[in-house]
Amino acid sequence: MALAIRKLTNNLGAEIDGIDLTGPLDNAIVAELRSALDDYSVLVFREQDFKNQTQIAFSTQFGPLENMLYKREGDGNQPISNITNVDRHTDEIYPTGHSRLTANTGNELWHTDSSFKPVPALCSMLSGREVPPIGADTQFATCRAAYEALLEAEQLELEGLVAEHNYAWSRSQVPGYVPPAETLAQVPPVRHALVRTNPGNGRKNFYTGAHASHIIGWPVEKGRKFLKELVARAAQPEFVYTHKWRQYDFVIWDNRCVLHRATAYESEKYRRVMRRTTVAGTGPTIDESVTLSGVA
Ligand SMILES: [Fe+2]
Repeated sequence: MALAIRKLTNNLGAEIDGIDLTGPLDNAIVAELRSALDDYSVLVFREQDFKNQTQIAFSTQFGPLENMLYKREGDGNQPISNITNVDRHTDEIYPTGHSRLTANTGNELWHTDSSFKPVPALCSMLSGREVPPIGADTQFATCRAAYEALLEAEQLELEGLVAEHNYAWSRSQVPGYVPPAETLAQVPPVRHALVRTNPGNGRKNFYTGAHASHIIGWPVEKGRKFLKELVARAAQPEFVYTHKWRQYDFVIWDNRCVLHRATAYESEKYRRVMRRTTVAGTGPTIDESVTLSGVA
């Protein structure tokens, strides 16, 4: 069976219709979806009325799921996270100034999920359970098309570089937010290749984002500036797809090659209830056979 795939932009994103992901699926369909993710980087589905268990069941068909890092309100050590401004105990929007609202603003930085882990995520899957009528879009930027648009000399400059990704660094960019020491203790800095290659189609991209702190072997500030410049390259309009959520939308994105961010919304006025599952990556990003001078 061929899926009905409609491209959303020239460089990334596709909407897939006529499929219900909340029930059982043939392995062949799952393989087609995996292949579509390799090709389009962001997949959008409408009218997917997931519950937590059906979302976990669907997501697991892509691979083992990551457990969530956070231990806020008992969310830690579960394979599904609660991205919301609603207190599940009271079913009310958090009061002004609540630390959860402050923490949520960190999602407005361009980032790729869990790049602060030794084995970063393959893909994330986000289910829109309740969505604000305005704002709270999710934007996606392709680091693949942005990489391919670089001059050959610029691509060669990236080859072999390694970046340090550090959760403490990325959270230090979120005004007013101090992550719990217990959380920070779980995520010491890690190193990732700056250039990644999709094993399915051989296409390359640069790998950066808010968690990427600096380049190993370079002065810290020089590396920081360089990594931010790459983010800016990917964030150009021709490389961005903006998803405007409807209730029951379900979006899958390839964390290996796209950045994403949330746009602001009136979080003290409108309810936003999203659930995310995250499929774990398959291994470290740096080929252990590669010897990097100055990287001990
Ligand atoms: Fe994210």
